[in-house]
Amino acid sequence: MELTIEDMAVFCKKKGFVYQNSEIYGGMAGFWDYGPLGSEMKKNLKDAWWKFHVQDREDVVGIDGSIITHPRVWKASGHIASFEDIMLTCSKCRLKIRADTFVEDKLSIAADGMKADDINNLVEKNKLVCPKCKSGFEKVSAFNLMFKTHVGPSESTKSEAYLRPETAQLMFTNFKLVAENSRLKLPFGIAQMGKAFRNEISPRDFLFRCREFEQMEIEYFIHPDKVDDCPYVKSVLNHKLLIYSAEMQDKKQKEKEMTIKDALDKKIIKTQWHAYWLVTEHKWFSSLGADPKKFRIRQHIDTEKSHYALDTWDLEYEFPFGWKELQGMANRTDFDLNQHIKESGVDLSLFDEESKKKVIPYVVAEPSQGVDRAFLVFMFDAYNDDKKRGNVVLKLDSKLAPIKVGVFPLINKLDKEAKKLFDELKTEFTCTYDRSGSVGRRYARADESGIPFTVTYDFDTKEKGTITIRDRDSTAQIRVKADGLKDILKNLLNGEIKFKDAGKLVK
Ligand code: GAP
Repeated sequence: MELTIEDMAVFCKKKGFVYQNSEIYGGMAGFWDYGPLGSEMKKNLKDAWWKFHVQDREDVVGIDGSIITHPRVWKASGHIASFEDIMLTCSKCRLKIRADTFVEDKLSIAADGMKADDINNLVEKNKLVCPKCKSGFEKVSAFNLMFKTHVGPSESTKSEAYLRPETAQLMFTNFKLVAENSRLKLPFGIAQMGKAFRNEISPRDFLFRCREFEQMEIEYFIHPDKVDDCPYVKSVLNHKLLIYSAEMQDKKQKEKEMTIKDALDKKIIKTQWHAYWLVTEHKWFSSLGADPKKFRIRQHIDTEKSHYALDTWDLEYEFPFGWKELQGMANRTDFDLNQHIKESGVDLSLFDEESKKKVIPYVVAEPSQGVDRAFLVFMFDAYNDDKKRGNVVLKLDSKLAPIKVGVFPLINKLDKEAKKLFDELKTEFTCTYDRSGSVGRRYARADESGIPFTVTYDFDTKEKGTITIRDRDSTAQIRVKADGLKDILKNLLNGEIKFKDAGKLVK
């Protein structure tokens, strides 16, 4: 039986990955707390994203901006005027639900961003009723998703501010300073990760749609005349992806596997930059152990596009509750920089040495990834209910695994020596020490926590200086010299040696 999102929430709670926020008070919908294993894994995930997208590249630098910013930022960006969802209210029981997702579920059509009139028509035409009491709905109303707060001691409209609904805007407001400080020439990107807040009407599907979440975003700026001039495009031309264009959706066709070369030649993906970033993001997920076949890219249909977007593709993943957006990647053109130039009166253009003119760069692709949704992907792809072992095996990539090594004494008599080994190893890796219950139970606990390798200190370790390492995924065991253990584990975790080549296989 397929693992549902509810099963995943139960597993995450049981193992200490994620808890319902303020559960002892009945919980708060749309808010979640990461537990001991979850907070480690989330940190590893964010570190891996930062390394891949910022530290390993010459053309991307990072910032870390504040959560509350000047309200004029949100006026300029268009969020105050149009960052809205449409709400359905039941005429009898007053249940409020998000209209687009409700219509999507009921009618199997893309409804994100649909206007109020279209929703009203669809509800009427299809006789959609309240899922709770089966009564009809009132005419829909719009609802701004930004959380409001007040800055300073007064609560007047003058002191009103918003918690950021996306990290993106700070890359635009700081654009000129960052470009100058980092001496960047187009094309270049600015990255940021951090909290974002949206007062979602119907938070649901565990971590998938929350009210407080984290994003990892890049605004990638290019010369406006070079939207189709990506120096890295060659590296992605032969990459295959499942592609679901707006036209395919319109014609009720299925997604199709294609090479990027094909998609660009047929103008399905319109710019090289967009194609390059979509593939880069697909590769990032696969590089950390996600199943590449469970991803597709889907183009937004016209009614879905955000107010700032010329063209948007989502990177989607096939969750047990359907294909869902993991990452939105919009072509934002020069919309945001222009808006901030207009609102602030500050010149945010760059001087182009080639044309000797000022230019306002384009953001032709904006990889914008939710941390919590990425967390779910890696958890789903790692989860294996191993009937033979009688326990769950969480086959997380070792870069993501919250704990890298488990240390067990074979029997409690060896506790002192095994503890000493643990103290030594934990200077290098995140380790756990487990001496309770049978070794079998300890292996099962380690498997469920996703620990890639466990070492068992036994009598041979004490007398002959050798020790066993167990591989989580195969359950195979090797015997190695204890004094070289740290290096062997390091190489195993980095994937530099194969498990069976790292020591003598124990029969
Ligand atoms: N700066 C562009 C932007 O924010 P978005 O498509 O609204 O675009 C980007 O959001 C990503 O942020 C989404 O693809 C998703 O991964 C994540 N995200 C958005 N809303 C979310 C929510 N309510 N809960 C969890 N993640 C969310």
